[in-house]
Amino acid sequence: MRIEWGRDNIDILKTAVAALSALIVLAVSAGAQDEVTPGPQTLLPWAYALNSPGAEPEPDDGLPRQVPGSEQSFLLSEISNLYRATDWHPDDHPAMPDIVANGRNPGVYACAYCHLPNGQGRPENTSLAGLPEEYIIQQMADYKAGRRRSSEPRSVPASLMLAIGAITTESEVAAAAAYFSSLKPQQWIRVIETDTVPETTVAGWMYTAVEDGGVEPIGERIIEMPEDLERTELRDFRSGFIAYVPTGSIDKGKKIVTLGDDGKTQPCTICHGDDLKGLGPVPGLAGRSPSYLVRQLYDLQAGARQGLWSPLMQSAVADLSVADFVAIAAYAASLEP
Ligand code: HEC
Ligand code: HEC
Repeated sequence: MRIEWGRDNIDILKTAVAALSALIVLAVSAGAQDEVTPGPQTLLPWAYALNSPGAEPEPDDGLPRQVPGSEQSFLLSEISNLYRATDWHPDDHPAMPDIVANGRNPGVYACAYCHLPNGQGRPENTSLAGLPEEYIIQQMADYKAGRRRSSEPRSVPASLMLAIGAITTESEVAAAAAYFSSLKPQQWIRVIETDTVPETTVAGWMYTAVEDGGVEPIGERIIEMPEDLERTELRDFRSGFIAYVPTGSIDKGKKIVTLGDDGKTQPCTICHGDDLKGLGPVPGLAGRSPSYLVRQLYDLQAGARQGLWSPLMQSAVADLSVADFVAIAAYAASLEP
């Protein structure tokens, strides 16, 4: 089955969303929406990577840092300033609105600190480059209303996003959404199928290889790590990531995404587009962090994410297993965005 989505279908989608929204409002006012009870971090520690307790950022040693291809230099204390995104390569992107570059003190950290000035994002957050403007605005409204949360409340990056969403104003959201949706997403995650991965540890809310470590079986996991840890730590947004995925997962994921895996789910391409580049207000998935995609599939299935548009995902994720999440994310991440 393949449905071509034209403008009409998108209008139908919007009507469906509006109808569902009305139902959700009723359910909420009737007190029918249960509080999300966060579980212990046992299920997917590789997707919801947590820093070890007490992990401290490196102190500023007063030495200016540089990255390849940039004339600029910054101190570690400048790079770690959440109210000013480090812009190593200003020519790579249009001028950032103030809220994106500097945020608003107190509490609204610069969007580009985490999502990066070119919107490519990192495994512990997500890319925003090229997402539909309407979709970004809707997600911010969902954060504000407390409808979108993470299944892992100990994730500091996710908790900060929820806090930022709660206090960002409509005009700030409008400026940020216009900026990020105007950016062209780039392929910067190299997906590699393998049976074994380097031994890893968590640093800065993401996996990194243990220095002089050995290898271990990948199992049913995706291990996403920086191509160059030092450049990633300096928030150089020209240095991307590697995602190790289990052998065979890309083909398996393609079958689920395009065919629905013999009726197990709806083909995702109906709504997310044939090449998963997004369709109308529905977000693209191609080339995006597979750790992020798995977290969202899990959060949507578990009910931590209950945005106004989330009901459209409910039947798609209901019967998927963690192995399916891994395969889907491996395939989506491998595509050109
Ligand atoms: C401290 C880091 C941080 C900052 C600063 C930050 N974000 Fe986020 N953002 C995140 C994380 C982490 C997530 C994923 C949260 C989740 O799991 O729901 C996220 C998710 C999002 C999403 C959802 C994307 C999707 O595909 O559904 C949007 C939209 C977003 N952020 C917009 C913004 C805007 C706009 C700003 C600035 C006003 C901002 N963010 C600032 C960390 C951050
Ligand atoms: C009926 C339309 C529809 C189908 C079919 C569908 N999706 Fe979605 N998907 C959506 C919408 C709408 C959203 C936004 C949900 C929200 O706002 O909470 C979404 C969100 C997502 C997200 C989160 C994206 C982000 O940026 O946070 C992922 C991941 C995803 N879908 C994967 C899939 C996969 C995998 C399938 C197939 C198994 C699928 N979808 C099938 C409509 C659909």
